[in-house]
Amino acid sequence: MSDTLWDRYGGYSFVAKAVDDFYARVLLSRELAPYFADINMERLIEHQIETIGAVMGGPFDLNVAALRRAHARLKIKQRHFNEVADILTATLDDNGMSKADRDALLTVVASTPDVIVDPAELRPASS
Ligand code: HEM
Repeated sequence: MSDTLWDRYGGYSFVAKAVDDFYARVLLSRELAPYFADINMERLIEHQIETIGAVMGGPFDLNVAALRRAHARLKIKQRHFNEVADILTATLDDNGMSKADRDALLTVVASTPDVIVDPAELRPASS
C-alpha cells in the first residue's frame, strides 16, 4: 500500500469533487471568468483531475508540455496565476486536506508560473 496523497485522500472521488469545486469558484471571479468563456469545461475538468491527480501520486502522467501548450495563447497575467493558486488553496482546505499536505501540493503548483504565465509578464522590467 503506497502512501501517496492520492491514496490517503480517497483517490478519484476526492480529486474530482475538489476540482469541480475549484472551477465553480474560478468562474465566480470577475477577473478569471473571461479566460474560460469559450472553454469546454467538462474536458478541462477531466484534464485537471489528471494533473492534480498526478501531482498527488495518482495513476496519471504529468504532461508539462501539454500544460505549456494549453496556456500559451491565453497570455495569463501573474496576478491571475496568484489568484488561481489562492482559490486552489482555499478549495483544498474546504475539502478537508490538511495544511501540510496542501502546502506540499501547492509547492509543486506554485513552481509552474514559467509554464502557465505569459512569458512577457515574467521578464524583469527593463530599466
Ligand atoms: C495554477 C496552475 C495551473 C494548472 C496546474 C493548470 C492546469 C490546467 C490543465 C491541466 C489544463 C488542461 C490542459 C489540456 O487540455 O491539455 C488547463 C487548461 C486551461 N487553463 Fe489552466 N492551469 C493553471 C493555471 C491557470 C490560470 C492561472 C489560468 C487563467 C487565469 C488558466 C486557464 C486555463 C484555461 C482557459 C484552459 C483551457 C485551455 C483550452 O482548452 O484551450 N489556468 N489548465
